[in-house]
Amino acid sequence: MDTTKFFSRLDEAFPGDPRSTDPVHPQWADLAEEVPGTTAVNALAVLNLAAQLMPVAECYVEVGAYRGRSFAAATQDVGDKRFYALDSFEAHGDRGSDARSDLERTLERYAAHADTRVVVGDAFRMLTQPGVVDRPVGVYYYDGPPGGPAHHLALAVIEPLLADEALVFVADSARPKVQQVHGDYLAEHRGWSLAARWEGNGDSPARWGTGLHALVYRRPPGASRRLTSADERRRRIQVALRGPLGSATRRVARTVPPIVSAPRRRLAPLA
Ligand SMILES: C[S@@+](CC[C@H](N)C(=O)[O-])C[C@H]1O[C@@H](n2cnc3c(N)ncnc32)[C@H](O)[C@@H]1O
Repeated sequence: MDTTKFFSRLDEAFPGDPRSTDPVHPQWADLAEEVPGTTAVNALAVLNLAAQLMPVAECYVEVGAYRGRSFAAATQDVGDKRFYALDSFEAHGDRGSDARSDLERTLERYAAHADTRVVVGDAFRMLTQPGVVDRPVGVYYYDGPPGGPAHHLALAVIEPLLADEALVFVADSARPKVQQVHGDYLAEHRGWSLAARWEGNGDSPARWGTGLHALVYRRPPGASRRLTSADERRRRIQVALRGPLGSATRRVARTVPPIVSAPRRRLAPLA
């Protein structure tokens, strides 16, 4: 993926500074209206431009496809490339299967022209299984749980699969806890740089929502395609402990009725 070309062609998607202007094409605002989801309008335009410029021999991977808003945006007018949507749907409890059917409906409506593959499961497990992604990843969008070990792993598990030059977009990047993870990850791993921060300017939150950062990865000569031993340890803990524990906690939270605080009784003043 020619990342320099991507940044030089952002002016085709935005009439001015992407932080403070709306996309040239109204189709992204329409898509955000039509498909429920969380990715903000300007981010949809950015993801699509990246997919347009990605070489045919590479693929687009998204973690956290949910009902398909951002994934559908990436595929618009891109008929000759492969797109992978990953989601566990687990965070939605009983409504996970609704979200999954919604994703299928979104793909039928907006992405029938594209070569799309839906992978259902925990991204930290799936992305380390051989063959799940069958070509170098030119564009990656992480829109899963923000911050913490999951966010660190979101970069670690994709790194071996990235093309020698690749674009990595990370959602929720206006949040300090996400920036902290980036900072730490970039300090620990070679080949990465933070290329753009789109966090909006407060006058129009719909443009960027909770922010999007663009990272560039250029594989250093001789770099290993395996997770570092520290990252593999983190991954195992995530898959075996943190992930299941988070799921169990969410399940309990869904079944326990909320505690309603009883109205305080006014004490009559003593005579
Ligand atoms: C914020 S939503 C994604 C929104 C979507 N990209 C959009 O534009 O509307 C986050 C999604 O990440 C998924 N998710 C959370 N943890 C995951 C994991 N470990 N592996 C795969 N998907 C995960 C959730 O099921 C949820 O659907």
